[in-house]
Amino acid sequence: FQTGLLSGRHILITAGPTQEAIDPVRYISNHSSGKMGFALAEAAAEVGARVTLVCGPVHLPTPDRVTRVDVLSACDMLAACEAAMPCDLLIAAAAVADYRPEAIAPHKLKKNPGTEDGLVLQLVRNPDILATLSARPDRPFCVGFAAETQNLIAYATRKLLDKNLDLIVANDVADPSIGFNSEDNSVTVIDPQQHSTRFSQASKGLIARQLIAFIAARYHHLHI
Ligand code: C5P
Repeated sequence: FQTGLLSGRHILITAGPTQEAIDPVRYISNHSSGKMGFALAEAAAEVGARVTLVCGPVHLPTPDRVTRVDVLSACDMLAACEAAMPCDLLIAAAAVADYRPEAIAPHKLKKNPGTEDGLVLQLVRNPDILATLSARPDRPFCVGFAAETQNLIAYATRKLLDKNLDLIVANDVADPSIGFNSEDNSVTVIDPQQHSTRFSQASKGLIARQLIAFIAARYHHLHI
């Protein structure tokens, strides 16, 4: 694990879930502890990178020498990332909500008294933060995450190609010993030539160090 591996580079990392307000007291969100993104931020800072960590609501301390920007919604996360540009590398580890309520009710929604009426919420698509940043003229080296419960490698490869990424990190969230709130992870990294590299089960801290070393090597290979 090389000190100075990313010195002088700016790395932008997204982490945690996003929260999409329905009304002042309710929201739609995803499962995500933010642990993997925070571990990546810590590992990148350890090898000398200037790190901006844009994160949704999580209960985690900010790693040393990391600039943290807290956001709630996907739209806010995109705006915070755009404000942090330019960067040399982007790692999108956030679990961004794909949809948000079309409008946020200004007051708490009330049940219709004396009825058993349901509620229909109209949702609209959120912007894809990773695909948006990857399409910019000042595009960084882009790394995505694919959390899947089935067809892991096939779905991850599709996302790598659709979002025009340099690497994608696939993890199987159906396995309770890894992913989501667990302490451990086990991932497969896929490149545009569809070569895959497996990192077997270890703490998120160790996986993060291995991933940063792998990502930095690929980044430097493209930028010699
Ligand atoms: O399409 P899917 O959400 O599975 O793609 C996952 C990857 O895309 C992750 O790296 C995630 O952080 C990123 N993403 C994003 N903005 C979205 C949706 C996903 O940056 N709106």
